[in-house]
Amino acid sequence: MSCVYLTSFDTYATYLSMDENEARAEVERLRKEIDYHNYCYYILDNPVVTDAEYDRLMRRLEGLEKDFPRLVTPDSPTRRVGARPLAAFGTITHTVPMLSLNNAFTEEEALEFDSRIKRNLELDGSARIEYAAEPKMDGLAVELVFEDGVFIKGSTRGDGSVGEDVTQNLRTVRSIPLRLRHDSIRLPKYMEVRGEVFLPIKSFKRLNAEKEAKGEAPFANPRNAAAGSLRQLDPRITASRPLDIFCYGLGAIEGPLFSTHFETLEFIKKTGLKVNPLVKVVEGIDEALKYHDEMEEKRGSLNYEIDGVVLKVNRLDLQERLGVITRSPRWALAYKFAPKQEMTRVKEIFVGVGRTGALTPVAFLEPVSVGGVTIERATLHNEDEVKRKDVRAGDFVIVQRAGDVIPEVAVVLLDRRPAEGLPEFRMPDKCPECGSAIERVGAIHYCTGGLLCPAQLKESIRHFASKRALDIEGLGAMHVDQFVESGFVKDVADLFMLTKEGLLSLERWGDKSAENLINAIERSKNPTLERLIYALGIRQVGERTARVLAEKFGDILALAKATKEELEETREIGPETAASIVDFFAERHNMDVLRKLERAGVAFPKMEKKKGGRCEGKVFLFTGGLKSFTRDGAKDIVEAEGGEAATTVNKKVDYVVAGVEPGSKLEKAKKMGLKIIDEEEFKGLVGK
Ligand code: IVH
Repeated sequence: MSCVYLTSFDTYATYLSMDENEARAEVERLRKEIDYHNYCYYILDNPVVTDAEYDRLMRRLEGLEKDFPRLVTPDSPTRRVGARPLAAFGTITHTVPMLSLNNAFTEEEALEFDSRIKRNLELDGSARIEYAAEPKMDGLAVELVFEDGVFIKGSTRGDGSVGEDVTQNLRTVRSIPLRLRHDSIRLPKYMEVRGEVFLPIKSFKRLNAEKEAKGEAPFANPRNAAAGSLRQLDPRITASRPLDIFCYGLGAIEGPLFSTHFETLEFIKKTGLKVNPLVKVVEGIDEALKYHDEMEEKRGSLNYEIDGVVLKVNRLDLQERLGVITRSPRWALAYKFAPKQEMTRVKEIFVGVGRTGALTPVAFLEPVSVGGVTIERATLHNEDEVKRKDVRAGDFVIVQRAGDVIPEVAVVLLDRRPAEGLPEFRMPDKCPECGSAIERVGAIHYCTGGLLCPAQLKESIRHFASKRALDIEGLGAMHVDQFVESGFVKDVADLFMLTKEGLLSLERWGDKSAENLINAIERSKNPTLERLIYALGIRQVGERTARVLAEKFGDILALAKATKEELEETREIGPETAASIVDFFAERHNMDVLRKLERAGVAFPKMEKKKGGRCEGKVFLFTGGLKSFTRDGAKDIVEAEGGEAATTVNKKVDYVVAGVEPGSKLEKAKKMGLKIIDEEEFKGLVGK
């Protein structure tokens, strides 16, 4: 028997009596199971176990590999990030050159491509060519090499003949299997797969927000971010960036032969690699043009950037006959979308006032369609930015949407400015909303009117009611305007004084809508501490800081009493944030609002520590609507009490909480014999 390390209690019994052969069988079983869960999660986007269960399997495998080091193999799921930083990348020569694509920008050019193909194949002009139509990913091309199903190396495209060896980094991409699946195919002896690595837009935005918070320069777009991440010498950095891949073809292969490109993709999919689900076979160029338009329409709703579609003659024998000229195949075409930059004119520069009183200049534009989305305004951030770009009302400008982010003015076309010039932009010296004085802090101008400024009041109420704060469902921006303008709501606590009769006395409210809002307000009265802190809208206190404060101080009154020094001792809280928290609670009006909230019945929760919580070790699943909590709020409570909230019905669920009008999950849960409780029982369990 080998030496036993106790990594966690549940592995103790197994290790105690295990010899290497038994361990080998267990390691193999665990790897298969983990590979399967990776496949469900990263490829099918359909996890079948909770994160906690997955972590448990990984820890168990790590424990066994630690005790039996001889069982470690490079394709083990524990070995994704193993290597040390490199001094430089090596090079890899592609066995088959990685070609580039000819571009088309207009329908005529796409039609010309189709005619050329038919001429080359000596087909009649009316013949319909079958194309594989694919989104053109805006990332970077890579080649992955698998030997006997094991990922052995990977490279960038480079100049098409020689690329950089980025194997270590590609190993950290979760959707690249370290060994291929072979439950429905025979593994090829050797296979080179090509695809595009990209950074999903949501991850790109998160990454840039983090960079900006650290004072680092953000990436210009998701493509640069993906390239920058893949070309890191330290694979741990790459591992922290959630890169993804779609595969679109093969290089060399020692294995099955295919007759169409689409078949090739189907095969790639069966090996467990990811292929874009939007790939489709179309008949004739007219269907291909339709596909192009459909994708252009879809473009804004995808979580990755595409800049066109790729059309490939589907039959491989025809591809062979058509051949290649000057490094681009005659059988493929990149039919690009309209660019994401357009020219338009600035009608005026408007200065808006935000929740914190910050004055933000915004360019109101003559509407223009940029990459399929109509743009009418673009933020100019602050006065310095307007000066730097020298944007003036009446200017012609180029606007762009980079990575689906808020549209911005890229450049001003100075040569189109009228000869007599245009008046320079000036920041107002009084708040445009309430006339209060303006103070400048750093690059930002602030209105000093506080909550007396209706613009700030409206924004702070919107924030208070927003999804991540108190989550008052159905309270829209227009309602907030109406409540503030009618004088019904002068601070956030007034929301809880609203009555159905009161709402009915206002325009546009009916019986049902009034009742719904009153109920939603009632439901929001049980926030977690961190949501309540976040909802207050203290300058510099975002969700993360709110959580840190909740954990440290445990209740709102303790936080209100905290000194600047105590706050600064808290992890992640700097002097500026500490000062802003102290200022907030020193403001009498804010303390009045807190007291008013408490009187109105808003619970001031205490933060329970995770350990020993009422839900410790239990998994809850919610289905249907709840009366006293929002769905997110209920999940927060479970987590704060040390439990877990599941999203799918599975064996691991301990309690299914059935609310009003539960969905099909309840049926499924009943069939599986899971324990079902109602909202009252749930409240009892969590002590609310
Ligand atoms: S096929 C000969 N398919 O476009 C075929 N390429 O300009 C060559 N790309 O380097 C590639 N999406 O980075 C192909 N669905 C797709 C693609 C795609 C993006 C990129 C790839 C390539 C470049 C060629």
